[in-house]
Amino acid sequence: MPTHLIEFTKEGSVQASTDESVLEASLAAGIPLYHACGAKGKCSTCRVLIHEGADHLTPPTDPELALGERMHFPPNVRLACQTRVTGGPVRLSRILRDESDMSLYVGPFAGAATQQIGEERELTLLFLDIRNFTPLIERYLAFDVIHIIRKLFTTFQEVIEEHAGRIVETAGDGIYAAFGFESDLASGAAAAVKASFAILERLREMNDSYFRVHFNHRVQIGIGIHLGNVIMGGIRVAGSDHLLIMGYPVNIAARLQDATKQLNNNLVVSAELFSYLDQTAYAHTEDSVDLKGVSGSFRVILLGTAYLRASHLENPSD
Ligand code: FES
Repeated sequence: MPTHLIEFTKEGSVQASTDESVLEASLAAGIPLYHACGAKGKCSTCRVLIHEGADHLTPPTDPELALGERMHFPPNVRLACQTRVTGGPVRLSRILRDESDMSLYVGPFAGAATQQIGEERELTLLFLDIRNFTPLIERYLAFDVIHIIRKLFTTFQEVIEEHAGRIVETAGDGIYAAFGFESDLASGAAAAVKASFAILERLREMNDSYFRVHFNHRVQIGIGIHLGNVIMGGIRVAGSDHLLIMGYPVNIAARLQDATKQLNNNLVVSAELFSYLDQTAYAHTEDSVDLKGVSGSFRVILLGTAYLRASHLENPSD
């Protein structure tokens, strides 16, 4: 019976014959894959992540297809108990490494988000923050403050989704969103910038027709945008699934949003992002700024307008 090589990342190699499952071969070689249902394709604890050699594996069995559909497995996740190796080499990793991993992936606390395997993606990251929100909190009732945030965030979310973006997080008076999930980097960058202009326009309308009328206040925001290679995955917190997008470009985008104050411009993008856009379509100014954690000056493009200062606002305390 021919055998083929299975390499478990950082754990060692296993020779598997074509008539035994990846689970059987691994257990025989001392690699402790979990198999709570006894290899019936029902528990998913034997799942492995395929890095290389997917073509050398037998197609998913009916139980594997059914479980994979129910648990939203990506194509590079296979059940070791249902899979045999027909060629080689195959490189893979265990997903559940000890008992503490069980609750992450199996049972009541596991959600669709945790079935997603972390992956590298090229995305555009947008950070938005409401300026001078503290005076509003001091001046208005808690109900009014929440009402204002709710009204603003609902509108911002609408615009972000209209441009195929997704909100990753909201924190206090800020939003973190990402673009380019279904497109290339250039299209994601263009979508994020278009969304930003649309948000600023919707905010102008809301200020004129609502916030100035009912709250004697003009809301101002700052937006910073950058792009690059990030790690994307999912996490389940307090019963809901959340998107996780992390990496150095995320920190840069957050710091660009912060730098909008110093640069006195409400829409600041990195020069790198701007290089992906049709530059003739945007009135812009170039500048540079020192960003925490970045050596040397960071080149930025100012696409927005200067903030209105207190003397230009309806209420000078703003
Ligand atoms: S051991 Fe349960 S699905 Fe493989």
